Amino acid sequence: MTALSTENHILGLETSCDETAAAVVAGGTTILSSVVSSQVDLHARFGGVVPEIASRAHVELIGPVVADALGEAGVELGDLTAVAACRGPGLAGALLVGVSAAKALALVADVPYVGVNHLEAHCYAAWLDQPDLELPLAVLVVSGGHTLVVIMEGHGRYRVMGQTVDDAAGEAFDKVARHLGLGYPGGPLIDALAQEGDPEAIKFPRAMPSEPDFSFSGLKTAVVVHVARSPGANVADVAASFQAAVVDQLVDKLVRAADEAGAPTLVLGGGVAANSALRARVEAVAAASGRRAFLPPPELCTDNAAMIAATAWWQLQTNGPTPLDSGVEPSLALA
Ligand code: KG4
Ligand code: ZN
Repeated sequence: MTALSTENHILGLETSCDETAAAVVAGGTTILSSVVSSQVDLHARFGGVVPEIASRAHVELIGPVVADALGEAGVELGDLTAVAACRGPGLAGALLVGVSAAKALALVADVPYVGVNHLEAHCYAAWLDQPDLELPLAVLVVSGGHTLVVIMEGHGRYRVMGQTVDDAAGEAFDKVARHLGLGYPGGPLIDALAQEGDPEAIKFPRAMPSEPDFSFSGLKTAVVVHVARSPGANVADVAASFQAAVVDQLVDKLVRAADEAGAPTLVLGGGVAANSALRARVEAVAAASGRRAFLPPPELCTDNAAMIAATAWWQLQTNGPTPLDSGVEPSLALA
């Protein structure tokens, strides 16, 4: 074992959906390597993630991705303090690949295994870039599978203030993009096209304005109806107006939760947190309300394994290692 072992190096693995990722993080905050192999090309022609294809691709990719992460970090198995993997929520077969690999590596290295909640990890992505965040944090987790506002009251302590009652925000971006014939994944494509459109051209509905929960399926239907009734509609205007309706709903509910909890810091996580209009609005409302906004860089917002390793570091201090006989939890919730 080398001198590096005293610096608390955690290898994290993430395989909950269509990204095979491995990362080495030192001391819970310093990223030594973060390798993400996206399967987007494999799933694009189906317009969404196909679970069986995802599991098979994870099996093929996990070995090389781990080798790359260790190599880039200049760390050997014997230098690790723990090996962590995302244990849920996510696709069962996909999660099994990362969890099984992490347990095997932990056994070989003779170090603890830590099973991490994917939603918790999205909250911890912010700590990687900014280790001195002031609690409580109001965190908006917006991805292809999840949309929720969480108050992070302390390490490992969460209060879910609201979540989607139907589609996730990213799912709405993907479905609307498919309807507009833009391709997959839809979020980045709508984001780019919206730059050329007028966000006020069409007044799409803002769902459940007085509720803490989110809903996007009515908005999605409104876009479909609008396009059917106005075949010559300017697609950039539709994209910009749809995006504005999503951003309004997300930001209103984030700010309301922050007000209720007295949270001084707003944080974004999940793939949709890469959206340029959402980032700009969160910065603006934070400035207007005397709060601090912390927006992790897009590569830490989308699925990655550095967030898994960072969460595992905090989890080891509070709860200790995870038993090797614990499994995956595809429907794992937060709090
Ligand atoms: O967190 P993530 O990488 O994977 C999941 O856990 O789902 O999020 C993927 C989602 C997709 O729905 C994608 O369309 C959306 O994030 N997304 C975006 C943007 N970049 C990715 N949505 C809106 N604007 C973007 N720039
Ligand atoms: Zn995610």
